[in-house]
Amino acid sequence: NTYVVIMAGGIGSRFWPFSRTNYPKQFHDVLGTGESMLQMTVRRFKDICPPENIFIVTNKDYEHLVKKQLPQLSDNQILLEPVGRNTAPCVAYASYKIAQINPNANLVVTPSDHVVLKEQVFTDVIKEAVAAADKDDVLITLGITPSRPDTGYGYIQYISDEAQSIKKVKTFTEKPNLELAEMFLNSGDFVWNSGIFIWNVKSILKAFRQHLPEISEIFDEGTTDFNTETEKNFITRAYSHCRNVSIDYGIMEKVDNVFVLLSDIGWSDLGTWNSLYTIGEKDEHDNVVDGEVILYDTKNTIIKTPKERLVVVQGLEGYIVAEHDNVLMICKLEEEQKVKEFMADAKNRK
Ligand code: GDD
Ligand code: MG
Repeated sequence: NTYVVIMAGGIGSRFWPFSRTNYPKQFHDVLGTGESMLQMTVRRFKDICPPENIFIVTNKDYEHLVKKQLPQLSDNQILLEPVGRNTAPCVAYASYKIAQINPNANLVVTPSDHVVLKEQVFTDVIKEAVAAADKDDVLITLGITPSRPDTGYGYIQYISDEAQSIKKVKTFTEKPNLELAEMFLNSGDFVWNSGIFIWNVKSILKAFRQHLPEISEIFDEGTTDFNTETEKNFITRAYSHCRNVSIDYGIMEKVDNVFVLLSDIGWSDLGTWNSLYTIGEKDEHDNVVDGEVILYDTKNTIIKTPKERLVVVQGLEGYIVAEHDNVLMICKLEEEQKVKEFMADAKNRK
């Protein structure tokens, strides 16, 4: 009774201009492996549950992309949101839907834009977490050893207990400011939240009732409508009333039954240019290059440009040079948090 919920409705704005509103990064073959991030995510669960237990939650605008990339899924496995309301409503929708199919389902909730290099370890870790969530009313997240004071992540402080691999969480802090993130990192007591969650559907619905009752009330009303023609209408109405909140702020920071399983799964969140630079293969001057490029006096730079364009670069250090679909962006790697802004400003131009 393991079910997987893949959240694939984000627009990946920190990865602009590669990630675009009409074609977000989870649908791209970011690593050049021939598979999109979404396809890789689905494949990661092949030894964890049968393919019919995998559900994708995405925006209705991406329905065609999901169907094209995952032709093996039936329509019933693709949950379409009329508007993006962040991850809490996304998790609520999938949880209510799956609870109707199996009221005792164990859910694995996962982003669609991560890399996991150690697939066998991942499978083992998920199975261990599912077994724990099946027994107790716990909300489990996979924890990752942090390597930098990144403010884009959730930070988890846990109670260390050598005897237990799944540890009780003391505090969960979503996206701290830099000062706090540095403190967390230096203390050595914190891990990053991977954003991969494991829980029984009863546990998460209980947490919604306690901490986001305004969302669970909306879905409670429509529970009997699922699996019928009226589902679409109900969801359109429901989302128009849902507030925009992430599962991290809305639930994980609030509940007291969070547990963390420290996992060495070769994880990275390909959320930003820096993260792609970090995992990319470097040339002798520490450049990461994907494109037809001639470089002079250039180092620590990431270049991702269309194959048909010859790009000549001189004298850059620590830059992003990215071109996609008629947009060329050149930005300092250390200023990459501005990319979101660029995306918004560029939209006003076109
Ligand atoms: N269906 C749907 N609808 N999916 C969404 C929506 C939505 O409205 N918003 C985001 N998603 C998807 C994204 O596509 C992504 O796969 C996943 O949900 C997580 O959303 P992000 O927007 O990427 O979250 P984040 O990176 O800021 O933070 C989360 O992940 C970090 C690790 O990568 C948090 O869980 C952090 O605590 C965590 O450290
Ligand atoms: Mg992310």
